[in-house]
Amino acid sequence: MDRIPPNKTMANGVLPALPDRHEIGGDMMARLDALAAHSETGDGLTRRFVSAEHRAASELILGWMRDAGMAAHMDAVGNCVGRYEGAEPGLAALMMGSHQDSVRNGGRYDGMLGIVTPIACVSALHERRERLPFALEVIAFGDEEGVRFASSLLGSRAIAGSFEYDALDRVDDDGITMRDAMRDFGLDPDAIGALARNPEDILAFVEVHIEQGPVLEAEGLPVGVVTGISGGDRLEVTITGLAGHAGTVPMGSRRDALAAAAECILAVEDRASAGDATVGTVGIIAAQPGAVNVIPGNVTFSVDLRSPDDAVRRAMVDDLKGEFAMICERRGVIVAIETPHEGRAAVCAPWLIEQIGAAVTAEGYSPRLLPSGAGHDGMALEPITDIGMLFVRCKGGISHNPAESITAEDAGIAARTLLRFIRAFRKTPS
Ligand code: HGY
Ligand code: MN
Ligand code: MN
Repeated sequence: MDRIPPNKTMANGVLPALPDRHEIGGDMMARLDALAAHSETGDGLTRRFVSAEHRAASELILGWMRDAGMAAHMDAVGNCVGRYEGAEPGLAALMMGSHQDSVRNGGRYDGMLGIVTPIACVSALHERRERLPFALEVIAFGDEEGVRFASSLLGSRAIAGSFEYDALDRVDDDGITMRDAMRDFGLDPDAIGALARNPEDILAFVEVHIEQGPVLEAEGLPVGVVTGISGGDRLEVTITGLAGHAGTVPMGSRRDALAAAAECILAVEDRASAGDATVGTVGIIAAQPGAVNVIPGNVTFSVDLRSPDDAVRRAMVDDLKGEFAMICERRGVIVAIETPHEGRAAVCAPWLIEQIGAAVTAEGYSPRLLPSGAGHDGMALEPITDIGMLFVRCKGGISHNPAESITAEDAGIAARTLLRFIRAFRKTPS
């Protein structure tokens, strides 16, 4: 490892100026647009795990990481990992990053903003040949949304050592297993175990992410400080009834799987509406055989259930499983429920909330604290390191939608705020 160049910042004892918010923000928006070009769909952004789009986006990200002075590579689970050494090689690292995959027909800022922002900050340090008393790592996680294989946080779980190996047998819509898709992509599923990090090598994980909610916009704030991330369960429900002729089977003797599913779906809405800060969503449904004149014999649907409080979430899940069983028994159909994903709520460390808040204040804004209803990679990393998040205002709070939108100025403010945080960062035992 060649000698680290001298730290110009320390030479004159004065912190160099911050990049201009419009300039750095404009560069970031151009990169976000470049990433958005790699989509399976023209309507919004669709970029799934180990797809051609994942490959193309990763090549861009790895190039930007290297231009910013980082050593960068793709790891065995499809994450892009960039590292910027500190004042001497091999120091523990402040880890930052987010996910490069998207939902179907989603927006171009969810995840991606949390990749281009830390890269822009490292680039600013590199330009000034600044070195810090710790290393910086930026990770673009390969799969957080779980669109292709219905099991999310794959990249961050591998880093945290909590990868669920049975997920390798899950199949996508084309019947391809995750294991085969990863191998076809050039990854080595057998090497995932070696990615688990030693917690001592990570000082903290901090993620920049769009708020995906209306609070910051309503209060006229460009950035906010996250206090915690809601936990969430994802269920896969299968209801088996009896297919039959739509014209001849009397209503009283039907075992209609879709009518039963409809009653279950309304039970999700009722139960989640009745809970304290709970939410429940059915986003996917499929009815077989799917003919206008056939009573559906088989239905599968997804259920996404969340709460900031794990006990409240678990009670809601249990209540709904009981409700589904009663509905289906009454209707003479059979219900089977799988849980491909359960994510505990994650708390942001008070010392990181304080340091991120101080950076927001230094940038000229009041540090609005707020929870995240959306899930993030920090949920997977919290068991091995303290986590923090900086939220960025998004238009109308819209996300998971092609209309997702931020301004270049807010992107620039986020980058300046993160750079202030990085330069002032000091590990404070929690
Ligand atoms: O579902 C979520 O909250 C995140 O977008 N994966
Ligand atoms: Mn998302
Ligand atoms: Mn996200």
